[in-house]
Amino acid sequence: MLTVDTTALGPFLTAGEFDAVFPEAAAAHEALAKGTCRGNDYLGWLTWPEQYDRNEFTQIKTAAAAIRAQSKVLVVIGIGGSYLGARAALEFLKSPFYNQLTEGTEIYFAGNNLGAAYLQQIVQLIDGRDFSVNVISKSGTTTEPAIAFRLFRELLVKKYGKDGAASRIYATTDKARGALKTLADKEGYQTFVIPDDIGGRYSVLTAVGLLPLAVAGVDIDAMMQGAGDAMRGMDDRSSANPAWKYAAARNLLYRKGYTIEVLASYEPSFRFMAEWWKQLYGESEGKEGKGIFPASIDLTADLHSMGQYMQDGKRNLFETVVVPQKPTGSLAIPNDPENSDGLNFLSGMDIDAVNREALRGTVAAHVDGGVPCMLIRPDAFDERSLGQLVYFYELACGISGLMLGVNPFDQPGVEDYKVNMFALLNKPGFEEQGKTLRGKLAGLGL
Ligand code: PA5
Repeated sequence: MLTVDTTALGPFLTAGEFDAVFPEAAAAHEALAKGTCRGNDYLGWLTWPEQYDRNEFTQIKTAAAAIRAQSKVLVVIGIGGSYLGARAALEFLKSPFYNQLTEGTEIYFAGNNLGAAYLQQIVQLIDGRDFSVNVISKSGTTTEPAIAFRLFRELLVKKYGKDGAASRIYATTDKARGALKTLADKEGYQTFVIPDDIGGRYSVLTAVGLLPLAVAGVDIDAMMQGAGDAMRGMDDRSSANPAWKYAAARNLLYRKGYTIEVLASYEPSFRFMAEWWKQLYGESEGKEGKGIFPASIDLTADLHSMGQYMQDGKRNLFETVVVPQKPTGSLAIPNDPENSDGLNFLSGMDIDAVNREALRGTVAAHVDGGVPCMLIRPDAFDERSLGQLVYFYELACGISGLMLGVNPFDQPGVEDYKVNMFALLNKPGFEEQGKTLRGKLAGLGL
């Protein structure tokens, strides 16, 4: 089971401070478990690893097998919580080079931006190849994925005809509401459900993440088992609970003025896990004028860019380092009889071991430089560990957000840009806002 190691926080937080704050973590955990907290309509993720719909789980595997058999490419359309988890898990479990390495179905993600060139390039990539689409949207009305879906739906219909297209479209959405559900029912697409009580950023263990991952050949049973391990293990109501430790440490640091958390990993395959984590924590905690700002760095790459700031910049940040307990790969450094690059002191050493020394040296330097550091240690980078990690981060987020005094399950702030965008795009019903906004834009130099 993953652990949270707070030893390196010694110079910044005392045992007494932890002891004083654990009752808050206990109360937050209790409120989640009893369903008495703010946002209690969105607590389905808490028991999901044991309560998920086994029937749908089997249908996900069957659909994944059909997609693998019928298509060389799967285009996964979605944004935010309907995108980041699947991409994060794919890169974590398979590789950032998954599409180049796979002999199975390649996976491209669309609908997560409005970049015309990005979409054109995906269209180019699927040209002349069999493809399917998994469109994911809980609300069924989000603009970015809706635009991308319209585009790829048209391509599918042109290539395979209306019925052929329908057999290649898989919609993951609300069980009853929204434009996507209505369209799916009308056109006969196979649908998967995003449960009412699970918000987008907590949904990776539902069909949202599971269908694309099953297409990539991920062992989704092991993922759910890992999440189940964490659900049971982290029900522990004591200061040994890693979710309590993490939530307690970050709230204590925040109260001392460390308002930025930097998630650091020395594994490039963790990069999108950090993006997923940023959404989970940023959207859950950044509200009512409060919240730790979640940032991330990829190491050792960013030691050559953000490393300067980490070591020596404004001291308002703390660092959480993800360290797998088992190596993620193994590759020995060759010997060079001429030692022309002076690197023979490393001959025969595994690159993973060099990476670990870089990590140890960097943590020591950052602590010396005034950066509080803690370590999160998943067992490995495999399915079971991923399930544990996801559940851990979700539980700790719920606890931490409640300790901060916010509702960790809503996102009222994301509506404002949408209203403005619709107003500027002349969406029917937004005419008045459009007039007011156009008046303001000149003052913004826009
Ligand atoms: O976490 C969230 O709720 C958001 O990030 C949503 O996932 C995102 O806005 C996409 O929404 P939808 O799935 O309704 O298209």
